[in-house]
Amino acid sequence: MREKLEQIRLEAINAFQQTKEASGLEAMRVKYLGKKGELTAVLKQMGTLSAEERPVMGQLANEVRAALTSALAKQQKLIEAAALDARLKEETLDVTIPGKRPELGHKHPMSIVLDEVKDVFIGMGFEVAEGPEIELADYNFTRLNTPEGHPAREWSDTFYLKEDSSLLLRTQTSPMQIRVMENRTPPIRMIAPGRVYRKDEVDATHSPMFHQIEGLVVDKGITMADLKGTLNEVICALYGKETKTRFRPHHFPFTEPSCEVDMQCHACGGKGCRVCKGEGWIEVLGAGMVHPKVLEGCGIDTDLYSGFAFGIGVERLVLRRFSITDMRLIFENDVRFLSQF
Ligand code: PHE
Repeated sequence: MREKLEQIRLEAINAFQQTKEASGLEAMRVKYLGKKGELTAVLKQMGTLSAEERPVMGQLANEVRAALTSALAKQQKLIEAAALDARLKEETLDVTIPGKRPELGHKHPMSIVLDEVKDVFIGMGFEVAEGPEIELADYNFTRLNTPEGHPAREWSDTFYLKEDSSLLLRTQTSPMQIRVMENRTPPIRMIAPGRVYRKDEVDATHSPMFHQIEGLVVDKGITMADLKGTLNEVICALYGKETKTRFRPHHFPFTEPSCEVDMQCHACGGKGCRVCKGEGWIEVLGAGMVHPKVLEGCGIDTDLYSGFAFGIGVERLVLRRFSITDMRLIFENDVRFLSQF
């Protein structure tokens, strides 16, 4: 029995040390130290020993059990340490690998120009107003002295949202004149930038959606001279002091008198070229003195007050500002194009 115990001790400790995996080690524990293991099997034979031998073998058996238990624990620790090492190695971060720089966007050319224009007007004491793109025909037309039956209200030009033509996508930012005058008392100095919609085919200079900046000034003693002075000032602020402008008579139902404003072509200095289509001039906005009917419709006393209004096409400013030749590029959202500005 002594030999058997010594043999188990040698064999088991050796087996433990050979085992490199936690699951294998558990199998070894069961094999040598388990209830049906080899050590237990030997102890079961204690009954066959003599009275003198029994305590001696009992002590030896205990020693062997203690030796096995401690060898097992030692190996367990080694295996755990090795596993931790392996994991740490696997999960190492190489902090010297260059990172991926997040791509930062920037302002769209439309926003760049819009912000520049806003800055100029804010500097002149204007407020910025915003209003709905889905508009009542009443505001878009009727109250702007464009009654039912007027050719400007044709279905062929306007995106109506109702059979009865009462609701539409605004065709101009001018309804903002009404919305502001309704809610405010003069003096009024406001601009209202935003999207407008017309049933236009897409080409290099047209889009069914485009942007306007409406402007409105109402105060005592406002004249055409204020209109000219203000708009000249704005155009010079945007395009340089030397920029020449031209005020041409025009017609809008809601201003009287009305005009269109051209600026001398930056590309040819007025001689006529491709950019200005040979004209020497580029149209930038429509304007005029607010029609007394429009003022009165908003409860403004025309004996005391007068005003001027204007509407600027923003896309045209952007094309000019960045020498872009096709308006479609502005709306296609191709980053290869947009990232140039
Ligand atoms: N709303 C006009 C247009 O879209 C422009 C305009 C605005 C003209 C204000 C006069 C006064 O053409």
